[in-house]
Amino acid sequence: MDITFLLNGESVELRNVSPTATLLDWLREERGLTGTKEGCNEGDCGACTVMVTDARGARGLNACILFLPQIDGCAVRTVEGIGGADGTLHPVQETMIAHHGSQCGFCTPGFVVQMAVAHLNGDRNHDDALAGNLCRCTGYAPIIRAAEAAADTPVPDWMTDTPPASLGRKIPSGGPGGRQPPGLDAPETLDELATLYAARPDATLIAGATDLGLWVTKSLRELEDVIFLNRCADLQQITESDHSLRIGAGVTMDRVLDAVRDLNPSYAEMIRRYGSAQVRAAATIGGNIANGSPIGDNPPALIAMGATLHLRAGDHTRDMPLEDFFFDYGKQDRAKGEFVEAVTIPRHAPRLKVYKLSKRFDQDISAVCGAVNITVTDGSVAQARIAFGGMAGIPKRASAVEAALTGATWSEKTVRAAMAKMAEDFTPLSDMRASAGYRLHTAENMLLRYWHEDQGTRSNVLEVSA
Ligand SMILES: Cc1cc2nc3c(=O)[nH]c(=O)nc-3n(C[C@H](O)[C@H](O)[C@H](O)COP(=O)(O)OP(=O)(O)OC[C@H]3O[C@@H](n4cnc5c(N)ncnc54)[C@H](O)[C@@H]3O)c2cc1C
Ligand code: FES
Ligand code: FES
Repeated sequence: MDITFLLNGESVELRNVSPTATLLDWLREERGLTGTKEGCNEGDCGACTVMVTDARGARGLNACILFLPQIDGCAVRTVEGIGGADGTLHPVQETMIAHHGSQCGFCTPGFVVQMAVAHLNGDRNHDDALAGNLCRCTGYAPIIRAAEAAADTPVPDWMTDTPPASLGRKIPSGGPGGRQPPGLDAPETLDELATLYAARPDATLIAGATDLGLWVTKSLRELEDVIFLNRCADLQQITESDHSLRIGAGVTMDRVLDAVRDLNPSYAEMIRRYGSAQVRAAATIGGNIANGSPIGDNPPALIAMGATLHLRAGDHTRDMPLEDFFFDYGKQDRAKGEFVEAVTIPRHAPRLKVYKLSKRFDQDISAVCGAVNITVTDGSVAQARIAFGGMAGIPKRASAVEAALTGATWSEKTVRAAMAKMAEDFTPLSDMRASAGYRLHTAENMLLRYWHEDQGTRSNVLEVSA
């Protein structure tokens, strides 16, 4: 595949790039830009953070799990391009020095780039912005102080990259869609995507590559026949109606967070803890559903809301309740050549609570993710939709628990009786994240927590008071 992009303000054109060459490897090995560090090589530490700008604006992304075709048409700024060409330091570099924000320095380039992105975007929530950057020596307080100290300084001129429209897809060739060679493509419309995928149903669809990147960097898999989704504008739409939000499969989790922040605060709070800022800026909602993971965080919340999944194969589209998509571990109701087009959720889910339980607060995969949505009318449970991740081989509704609640008086006694049904719905596994017994017990307690919160008891452990 041939790609063009801006690198630290200069135009770069690359021919015949491998679909799975990572930006990190290219920067360090081909370009000699070794400021961008390799720590974990799996999106977890932020040492490889680069700034990527496109029509959506600027965001920090982990270069270790970013494939070169994903930056076609974008502007990329590495730590070498954060200061001015004449050696002037960026304000965040100045304040990192002033506040002693670096010791061994290995993490520092990643922090500096992510801080510069937050500075550019006026993002003052430094804890969230930097939750995906790991430092083993300095301690985070000096780094946060540095970010705070730089916040009011003007954005340097050189930081406002606007990739010219002439970048990207400059060199047409004769493959499907008339653009790229067979075996690699990046369709721009749903129709193009549907045609391509129907013709090459064994191709691997690559959206944000936050899962697929690890197939390459950790499992050392070669992906030869790939279709990139990041240029398909139709997949990236959020359509609002009075009662619902239709979210395209290619919408990244940071945009989902923005869309639901006010309307659906409990779902939004879970998304705030989904990976890190860098992961949320790449990961798509469609990728999280399509990967069929039993511990993906979106499906339990979406199922509890009563989401509808939209699939498309060629010209044929079909819709289904999201819970019906997941058959068994690793098996979904998706035919060859069929892809996830969008998911529709209620615009507002006032009774929904989502509880993400993980060993760390930030940047961690859930041991259990529970979503509870119970409607009470005249003191009785009119409807209960309860779903869990991490409790079975698929994201799954708690049908026996729901049945025990529905129609019963909304009381602690009813809730405790329903909790006892959890073992009928789930036989969880023990693994490194949690034992089976712990999982079952915490799932029961999530329901009890919902009850207590509904009675006005404060349960947020981040706000402990005497
Ligand atoms: C550091 C880190 C932290 C993470 N934290 C979390 C977390 O807290 N919670 C969580 O749930 N996940 C987490 N993840 C997992 C991952 O980010 C999510 O599953 C993500 O939403 C996947 O989306 P993607 O766009 O990156 O998918 P990709 O990696 O591009 O694709 C994933 C799979 O879905 C398929 N696919 C993608 N789009 C479509 C489509 N439209 N139709 C059909 N198939 C499609 C791909 O072919 C592939 O099989 C984390 C990952 C990393 C690396
Ligand atoms: S090297 Fe750790 S996130 Fe990329
Ligand atoms: S300064 Fe050493 S890891 Fe952060």
